[in-house]
Amino acid sequence: MNPNQALWEKGDFTRLAATMRDSGEALVDRIGITKGLEVLDLGCGDGTTAVPAARRGADVLGVDIARNLVEAGNLRAKEAGLTNLSFQHGDACDLSDLDDRAFDVVVSFFGAMFAPRPFDVAREMVRVTRPGGRIVMGNWIPGDPTLVAQILKISSAYSPPPPEGFVSPMTWGIVDNVVERFTAAGVPEAKISCEHDTFVFEAAAPPSEFLGLFRNYYGPTMNAFEAAEASGRADELARELEALFYEQNQSPDSNATSIPATFLRVTVER
Ligand SMILES: C[S@@+](CC[C@H](N)C(=O)[O-])C[C@H]1O[C@@H](n2cnc3c(N)ncnc32)[C@H](O)[C@@H]1O
Repeated sequence: MNPNQALWEKGDFTRLAATMRDSGEALVDRIGITKGLEVLDLGCGDGTTAVPAARRGADVLGVDIARNLVEAGNLRAKEAGLTNLSFQHGDACDLSDLDDRAFDVVVSFFGAMFAPRPFDVAREMVRVTRPGGRIVMGNWIPGDPTLVAQILKISSAYSPPPPEGFVSPMTWGIVDNVVERFTAAGVPEAKISCEHDTFVFEAAAPPSEFLGLFRNYYGPTMNAFEAAEASGRADELARELEALFYEQNQSPDSNATSIPATFLRVTVER
């Protein structure tokens, strides 16, 4: 089994995605997804951005490497009566099922950044985007002090070293890497822009329960806990993450969680 696919099928990202709904809606408006656009959502999960994009009248295809999330997305589309939205299995490194220049907008929020071959990912995103269209990516930023970058940083300190040749997904949060990858795919540098943006995780539960969702359902954190358990450090990892979650929480209600996280928003004009 492809380890990238195994990682994301291991947990159940829908449990985390349930805390991302409002920000997903806001993001789709911020990036100007409107009626009639052909949109590809790459690494779409169960549709955090694909579902609101379709609700705004775009024709949306969600592609994800995790079959359980493709199934969950198709169920959400059906339940919402969205006939202009479908999900299919695929790998951001190789979109050979999709035609050249098929989409007006290719979006990937915290999705394609996790694919193992970033230069292939950039080339494929560029290939399937129509001239005059655009690519919009959201990527977590290495070393950023906010939630997700810190979870991944803390988790990596408890995990075995990655295999030889592994390229960290976090490199997609570094502007120079982004520019290098898209220019290698034939995009002039002047057509690539990057800015910081914010995504807010919201849960009707205290931060300790929100952390439980990562521990039990988010592949990368599940793996970190497995490694930490094997080395007798699981309690230490739990304490470190709990301190992070409470420190980052901005909800005034002690039974709720609201945590903003900074990401790099990349826009590539074709
Ligand atoms: C952190 S989740 C984000 C999901 C969704 N974009 C959202 O905002 O809710 C990362 C997603 O990327 C998907 N993914 C990881 N590697 C992928 C690849 N090589 N090709 C397509 N999807 C991939 C995972 O299965 C997962 O759904």
